This record gives sequence, C-alpha cells and structure tokens, in this order.
Amino acid sequence: MSTGGGITSGSVRKATAAYIASVGAYVPPRVMSNDELAQIVNTSDEWIYSHTGIRARHVADDDVAASDLAVEASRRALDEAQIAPAEVDLVLLATSTPDYPGLPATASIVQDRIGAERAGAMDLVAACSGFVYALATASAFIDSGQADTVLAIGAEVYSKIINWADRNTCVLFGDGAGAAVIRRGGGSGIRDNVLHSVGSGATSLYRPAGGSREICGATTDPDRTKLHMDGRQVYGFAVQAIIDTVEELLARNDLSIADVDHVVAHQANVRIIDAACRRAGYPVEKFFKNIAEYANTSAASIPIALSEMQALGVLEKGQLVVTVGFGSGLSFGGNLIEWT
Ligand code: ACO
Repeated sequence: MSTGGGITSGSVRKATAAYIASVGAYVPPRVMSNDELAQIVNTSDEWIYSHTGIRARHVADDDVAASDLAVEASRRALDEAQIAPAEVDLVLLATSTPDYPGLPATASIVQDRIGAERAGAMDLVAACSGFVYALATASAFIDSGQADTVLAIGAEVYSKIINWADRNTCVLFGDGAGAAVIRRGGGSGIRDNVLHSVGSGATSLYRPAGGSREICGATTDPDRTKLHMDGRQVYGFAVQAIIDTVEELLARNDLSIADVDHVVAHQANVRIIDAACRRAGYPVEKFFKNIAEYANTSAASIPIALSEMQALGVLEKGQLVVTVGFGSGLSFGGNLIEWT
C-alpha cells in the first residue's frame, strides 16, 4: 500500500521548546519463547526468527492491565528525571489496549496511581505510532505554553487482544510500557515532528467488533473482538512509511542521513527495517533493534528502545535521533530529537 499524499498535508509545525528529560521502561517478568509458542500453534522458532527477528516476548499475567505496566514505566521515568509527580501538567498515554473500552481514559488511572495530582490526563490512540504522536502532542502543549512538564507513555498488553489460535498474528506481539518526561527547555531537544494517516487502510489492521461499528452481543464471534491483520499489506505500507518519514524529517531540517546518529523505528519486524534500509540506501547499523527480546510492543516499542539505549550508554548528549512509528490507522510519523 502506498503511503499516499498525506506527506505534506498532514505535516505539523516545527517545535523547539520541548526536550526529553528522562525515559523509563517496564516489561512484565514472564518471558514466552518461540519454542513455548510452538506448543500452542503450528509454528517454530526457525520460522518466527527468520521471518521477523523475534526470539521471545514478555507476557502480562491475567490480572495485569495496560495501566499497571504504564505506572511502573512512569515511576522509573519520573525517578530518573528526579521530578515529583505533582510537577506533571499532563499525562498522555498512547495505547490501543486500554484498561476499559473507550472510557475512562487509562491515563486517568495512571495519573491517580502515580500521584500526579495537578495533571490533566488523556489517552491517545494511534496504535504503533502512538508514542511518536504523544511526543508531538507533548511538544505542542509545551510550545503553546499550556504545559511545562508532560509525561508521555506508551503502554500495551496485546496478549489480551490477539487471537492465540492464529499463528499469523500471535507470534508477532509482546507486552510492555515505556515513558518519557518531556519538559520545557532551551534550544535543543525535540526539534521537529511529522504525523500522517492513510485511513483508507483502516481495516488492514483492526479489531472488527467491540466498538460502535459492531457492538458486542451474545452472538458475537469472539474472534471478531481480536486483532485482525493483512500482514502483506501492512508490510508494504510499513517499509515505505519508514522511508517517507526519515526523508521528510531530513528534508525539513536540511539534514542528510549522515547527520543522524540513531534511527529508532517501531520494532514490528526486523525485515521491515532491513528492507527500508536496502531500498533507501540507509546504513542499517544506525537503526536500533531490540525486537528479538520483546517482539512488537506497539506504542511501547520506541520508548522501550530509547530506555534500553540510554541504559546501554548508546545515546550521547548532542546526538541526533530520528524516531519512526507506523501501524494501524494506518498511521505513521516521526520525531527529530537532539538528545539532551
Ligand atoms: N509459523 C509458521 N508459518 C507461518 C506463520 C507462523 N507463525 N505465520 C504464517 N505462516 C505461513 C503462512 O500460513 C504461509 O503459508 P502458506 O504459504 O502455506 O499459505 C507462509 O507462512 C507465508 O506467509 P506470508 O504471510 O507470506 O509470510 P511473510 O513472509 O509475508 O511474513 C509477516 C508474514 C511476518 C506477518 C509479514 O507479512 C509482516 O511482518 N507483516 C507486517 C506485520 C506487522 O508489522 N504488523 C504490525 C504493524 S504495527 C501495529 O500497528 C500493530
């Protein structure tokens, strides 16, 4: 699927006042290997690893919801930045696996549990692009003077919405959360954001039932409340979305790929990243990859990656980082960040 003409029409204005003060992540302790999955569906470690780069995923217990993971990741990010919860003006939670369908916002549950007593709270639904959208939204709130400190979170429990009998999808996803504290700063930080949508592809990755289009009733096939995906269509879209996003951010900021230190693309499939690099001629070593251990954690994958890169000492002050999100919507976009 072409990423279409949304490239320029969907662009948002440049933001310069916000910077990332800290990042934190949390994944549930239970690890499910490919071999363990092969006991549930007809698959193998060899097939999964060779087609996706995934070796394992973390899976939440039955009584654990998105907010539980989000709270842990948020506490880690706040501790890292040494910021009291009461300083947070806005809790922005990107998730497509909320605690409850539609209401209340899972962000409100997180706001209460972390003690962000002054903060507003809202969820943001852009699936695997969610954290990129959250960083752009945080930038806009800070640029416009409506917030000084925003807690941007990506938290997902796809284990609750995948069909564990469908080998086409259940091998791809994992649970986890990542969070970032975004603050007003001077001159460096989140330099630019681009956001796009190709809604004509809405049903290539979706949950058919459970919303107002198809309300769940006594006769609803339970499979229709689970994730459905046209893998081939999403694959083609995703490769082009990475290239279009990187190119747009570079062009808008008069940069070349040589100026960029790290590209943190959504971790959906190693082959998607490798294909984009081959097609566009990008050095693949600039693209961080940690999908082997986590699988696709949707809105959480980019903040988990940033947190891991920070812990590994890979990110240095002054480096240029490009993030790229893509996923259901179909949505895509990216952030250009000068690491602070
Ligand atoms: N184990 C073994 N065999 C499998 C499995 C599995 N887990 N899954 C599919 N197969 C089989 C298929 O049935 C098919 O068999 P057939 O030829 O007998 O029909 C064969 O493998 C090839 O299937 P393809 O779909 O052609 O496999 P492909 O190489 O395209 O890989 C994949 C499939 C990994 C899903 C790929 O299309 C992909 O990565 N798509 C993008 C998915 C994605 O990133 N989704 C998330 C987006 S982000 C978000 O918003 C959530």
